[in-house]
Amino acid sequence: MCVLSRKQVFRRRDNKLESQSLKVIILCLSLLPRSHNLVLHWTANPGPSGHLGSNPSLGAFSFKMKLIKTNDNSYTFYSKEYSENYHSISGALEESLKKFIEPCRIKDGMKILDIGFGLGYNVLMAIHTAKNLKIISLEKDSEILKELSSLDIPDYLKEDFDKVKIVAKKLYFNDSNTEIRVLLGDANETIKELNETFDAVFLDPFSPKKNPELWTLEFFKEIKKRMKQSGVLVTYSCASSVRKNLKDAGFIIKDGPCVGRRAPSTIARVD
Ligand SMILES: C[S@@+](CC[C@H](N)C(=O)[O-])C[C@H]1O[C@@H](n2cnc3c(N)ncnc32)[C@H](O)[C@@H]1O
Repeated sequence: MCVLSRKQVFRRRDNKLESQSLKVIILCLSLLPRSHNLVLHWTANPGPSGHLGSNPSLGAFSFKMKLIKTNDNSYTFYSKEYSENYHSISGALEESLKKFIEPCRIKDGMKILDIGFGLGYNVLMAIHTAKNLKIISLEKDSEILKELSSLDIPDYLKEDFDKVKIVAKKLYFNDSNTEIRVLLGDANETIKELNETFDAVFLDPFSPKKNPELWTLEFFKEIKKRMKQSGVLVTYSCASSVRKNLKDAGFIIKDGPCVGRRAPSTIARVD
């Protein structure tokens, strides 16, 4: 699609652009000169919680993503590709903190493997919590890395989110405290490039149904090979198939916290 330049706003409250109309719009766009600017604005549908909304300050939205305000007032996206939100509607930043950072007991000096960088919230909350971290994130979608720079983040996290934005742009950030690297590609492949071991693993793909390749026994075995004896893996899922694969890979499983729903998350230890 050509770069957008003439200011036009397409606003459909029902959020449905039928494929036929979409094709016509794309054709028109490709005929526009590059110096014209077009802003596509979707208004988020209210979800089950009735608490969703768009952030008008963000302006441009991609065809793949829709902005959603969650119940702790932090923003996430809805992925049209996976038909799922990137985070729980009960609170995106709260989910990062309660389901990933706290159960892993993130503290200074840890090495973290972050599977599914997404909007970088798990990384953000980790670097906000502790110092001297080394984080390697696996992510296959370069588009989401571009989208996250427009997110509205609470003031107390802005300084750390600037670091996340640098990682999203350059796939690398380091200062005297922190080193963060993103390996772009299918995590089933990029994980094989890692020959170091980690204290903590954030396993945060989309659901097992929508994103099955990151919940397999083979993948869990690859993760476990790269964890320290004292290492801990956390994930929001408690699906029996996920727990079975984790156990078969040699992990010891226990319930993690219930945050925003009745079901617990999962904490898996190596030892
Ligand atoms: C639920 S989101 C992660 C949210 C993220 N942890 C955060 O804190 O914002 C899942 C992410 O996994 C990524 N993903 C899905 N399949 C993948 C794969 N095979 N390899 C690497 N990343 C993948 C998606 O592109 C998406 O960004």
